[in-house]
Amino acid sequence: MSSNGEPNPFEVQDSIPIIDYSLLTSGSAADHSKAVQDIGKACQDWGCFMLVNHGVPESLIQEVMDASDKFFNMANEEKLQFQTHGVLDPIRNGRGCNAVKQYKNRLWREFLRLIVHPDFNCPSKPQGLSEAASDYVKRVRVVAMELVKGVSESLGFEASYMNDELNLDAGFHLLVINNYPPVLDSDIDIDISPGVMPHSDHSLITLLYENGVPGLEVLRDGKWVVMGGVPNAFFILISDQFEIFSNGKYMSKLHRSVVKDERTRVSLVITSGSSLDTTVGPSSRLVDGEERLPRYLPMKYSEYIEFQVKLIATGKHAIQEIQIHT
Ligand code: OGA
Ligand code: NI
Repeated sequence: MSSNGEPNPFEVQDSIPIIDYSLLTSGSAADHSKAVQDIGKACQDWGCFMLVNHGVPESLIQEVMDASDKFFNMANEEKLQFQTHGVLDPIRNGRGCNAVKQYKNRLWREFLRLIVHPDFNCPSKPQGLSEAASDYVKRVRVVAMELVKGVSESLGFEASYMNDELNLDAGFHLLVINNYPPVLDSDIDIDISPGVMPHSDHSLITLLYENGVPGLEVLRDGKWVVMGGVPNAFFILISDQFEIFSNGKYMSKLHRSVVKDERTRVSLVITSGSSLDTTVGPSSRLVDGEERLPRYLPMKYSEYIEFQVKLIATGKHAIQEIQIHT
């Protein structure tokens, strides 16, 4: 709480777990196993955590933010060619508005959504965006792969198990750059405000970096908790493929963004999943057809993404729809 008794969005939520990446990757063997244990606990208790000491340079992150700002400020005619609707289109620009009836206050943002792995796609304009985004993706992909190894170990598997099972060398990564416009006092009552409605991501893991303007919230014990308050940290969200592969041991994290700030909010979101043609189901090591029954229907990743997008307008969550109820 701040001194005037209002919740302060920048206050460190000291219970949100914080993982030190440098201990996972370059600490002693004891540091590494402690980090793996902490990751496992964070996945089980929260489904998300903040990642510090990740080594991705702030200057590079700033370059991506600056170049993307130029993209969003380009004339609409220049962006028109990217305003497509195919969910697997390599480059998409849009003004996502979640017109789901149950949300009285409609939420919207402008986004640039790029398929960045196994092939890298990016508009050639504005100058500098493609180079900065490409460097950024390379750096963040390394971090994502180390985290997946850590989560894999925390589930009792060898570090490389998921890499092999899910063909992560050809893993499907999206870079979504979200731009939430400022809200002025005079706008506060209109029924459309910047944000993204509650959802979980379709990937294994999501790495999100915000420009210091708060907005990301995660659902915990029935309450929305604001993530943030740790400078230069990534927000890590466990996503649907981890829930499916771990047969429900680690649950995918429901999150949303609600932005009410007089500054523009920018978030860089990287979703990191299996290869698109991998059929993802519960790990064969976790089910046995007797006591440990599979709790999710296997589905090819590309089909799952299409399935998720079809459901969005109905307010349903794909992960719930593929659950097997016994
Ligand atoms: C997303 C998302 C939240 C944010 O793009 O999938 O959840 O804080 N974004 O921008
Ligand atoms: Ni998301």
